[in-house]
Amino acid sequence: MNEHRYAGRVRSVEMSGIRKLFEAGGPDAINLGIGQPDFDTPDHIKMAAIAAIREGRTGYTPNAGIPELREAICEKFARENGLAYRPEQILVTAGGSEALHLVMEALVDPGDRVLFTDPGFVSYAALAAFAGGKPEGVLLDAALHIDVERAKEQMDGARLFILNTPGNPTGAVESEESIRALVEYAADRGVTVVSDEVYEHFIYEKEHVSAARFGEDVITVNAASKTYAMTGWRVGYLAAPEDYIPEFLKVHQYAQACATSISQYAALAAYTGDQEPVARMRNEYRARRDLLYDGLSGLGFDFPRPEGAFYMFVPMGRSLIEKAVENGIIIVPGSAFGSRAPEYARFSYATSRENLSRAVGRLEALMG
Ligand SMILES: Cc1ncc(COP(=O)(O)O)c(C=O)c1O
Repeated sequence: MNEHRYAGRVRSVEMSGIRKLFEAGGPDAINLGIGQPDFDTPDHIKMAAIAAIREGRTGYTPNAGIPELREAICEKFARENGLAYRPEQILVTAGGSEALHLVMEALVDPGDRVLFTDPGFVSYAALAAFAGGKPEGVLLDAALHIDVERAKEQMDGARLFILNTPGNPTGAVESEESIRALVEYAADRGVTVVSDEVYEHFIYEKEHVSAARFGEDVITVNAASKTYAMTGWRVGYLAAPEDYIPEFLKVHQYAQACATSISQYAALAAYTGDQEPVARMRNEYRARRDLLYDGLSGLGFDFPRPEGAFYMFVPMGRSLIEKAVENGIIIVPGSAFGSRAPEYARFSYATSRENLSRAVGRLEALMG
C-alpha cells in the first residue's frame, strides 16, 4: 500500500479483470480475450486522416465536434436506423467510452441507481460508481437475454437503464419486442434509457433495432471504434433529445475539450465513404462465429448460438476456465463482467480462423 489518499469513489472500483489477463499469456498463447477488431482501419479512412494532418486541421474543433461529422452522423441515423436527428442533438466524443462517462456524470446523482445487465460490459458499473451512483445488475435468462419482466421489477426509482444490444460479453441480440417493452416501461417510470449500440453492425441473422425508435427519453451511444476497426482513434458520439446537449457539453468541454481533430476527419470519411469494408468484416466475423460455435458445441458445451458482436459466452465451469488460461488459451472469466456468471468464459472471435481452430484443438486436448 502506498500512502497517497484516494477518493472513496475510485478506491471502490477494481481494475478491469481483462487487462490483467493479457499479462498472463506466454509466447505460445492464443488470445481470445481481446475486445477489439483484428482488422486494420480501411485505407480511405487513414487517407482522410493523413489529409487532415497535411492540411493543418490539427487544432481544437468545436466542442461538440466538427459540423460536417455531426451532419454525417445524422445521415447515418436516417440511413441505417430510421431515426431523424438534427446536428444539434449529436455530441462527438472520445470513443463510446467518453459518451458513457459524460452521460453518467451529467445525469447520476449520489445514490442514484444505474441498471444494466449482469453479466454486462465492464465499464458500466465503474462509471456509475465514479459518478457516485449505485450500479445494479439485471440478471439474464438462461438463453442470455434480458428477462424483461425481471428488468421491469427493478426499474422503479432507477435513474438510468443501460441497454446493450448486440451485447458484450454475451453476443446476444435483443428482440424488437423486448427493446420496445423496456423502453416504453422505462418512459412510464421516468427512467432514462442509454442505448449502447457499438456492435450494431456485427449482427448475423436479425436486423439491428435502435431503442430510440420507441421513446423520447433515450440516449444513443455509438462509436466508429468497432464498426470501422478504429478502436485506437478514439472517436464516438451520442445522440439525445436536444435539451440534454448543453449539460452534456459542460462535462465534455471541461474534461475533454473535443474529440481528436484528426480522428474526427477520419470518422467523417468512415461515415460518408464506402461501407463495403463493414460488410466484409461482418461476413468474416459470421464465418468465425460459426467455426468457433461448431467447434465448442462439438466439445459438448451447450449454449445458444450468439447472434451478434464478436463474443461467445460459454458455460464451461471454473476449473476448466482456469486450466484453459494456464495452458495459453486466453479467455475472460465471466466474473470479470459481473457477479453472477463465474462458470462462464467470454471468447472473443476477433482473431483469425486459424487461432480459433487451434484454440478449440487445444481445449479438446485439455479435456481429453
Ligand atoms: C459494449 C461496449 N460499449 C462501449 C465500448 C467502448 O468503445 P470505445 O472504444 O468506442 O470507447 C465497448 C468497448 O469494448 C463495449 O464493448
